[in-house]
Amino acid sequence: MSAYRPGHYLTKGIDRLFGAVRALWYRRVYLAWVDFGHGVTFAGTIHCPGVTGTVAIGDRSYLGHGVSLAVAEGGRITVGPDVSINKGCTLSARRAVSIGGGTRIGDHTSILDSDHRLDPDVPILESGFETRPIVIGANVWIGRQVTILPGVTVGDHAVIGAHSLVNADVPPRGIAFGTPARLHRIRP
Ligand SMILES: CC(C)(COP(=O)(O)OP(=O)(O)OC[C@H]1O[C@@H](n2cnc3c(N)ncnc32)[C@H](O)[C@@H]1OP(=O)(O)O)[C@@H](O)C(=O)NCCC(=O)NCCS
Repeated sequence: MSAYRPGHYLTKGIDRLFGAVRALWYRRVYLAWVDFGHGVTFAGTIHCPGVTGTVAIGDRSYLGHGVSLAVAEGGRITVGPDVSINKGCTLSARRAVSIGGGTRIGDHTSILDSDHRLDPDVPILESGFETRPIVIGANVWIGRQVTILPGVTVGDHAVIGAHSLVNADVPPRGIAFGTPARLHRIRP
């Protein structure tokens, strides 16, 4: 017996239909200022607070439900082709966040390139931000619920374990995890 029953095809069809309507809405109206490549999948509602920076999403990339792509004035988010950004992820760029092609990002991961500036005489609300760009390489696997802090570079083909807090660079092919994340081994 086939693994798919008629109800599955119906569900798939409805999903595709909603996906197509969403794609039209995001590309033509709500996020017309974002540079979406060909064949981007919009698996649910996405948010792009701030319309003064730039966002470019590569061909065939996947955006899960509840993904937030936040750019401030002068900020840039660049996502390569065939990247998967799963549900509930936040990418926040006051300066620059870039993700290389083929990278997979697990649910509820946060990638944030800015800190509030700490000045003893100024309230945090008014103190502005320190920003440092984040670079995530190509073919990286970032597990679920990871936080990547400002200034971090993650090399190509690296792996970041679930629930990690990444506050230092991870070399190409490195497998790192923990809070703070530490290099565990180099993958084949
Ligand atoms: C990091 C990971 C890839 C495993 O890498 P690995 O090199 O094969 O590591 P191992 O499984 O051999 O584990 C080595 C040790 O690290 C620990 N460890 C593994 N992953 C860990 C993590 N994310 N955080 C903390 N410790 C971890 C293991 O418990 C083990 O500890 P021990 O030696 O005391 O028994 C995997 O554990 C992981 O986190 N995967 C992400 C899963 C996920 O988020 N999936 C969503 C899909 S997008």
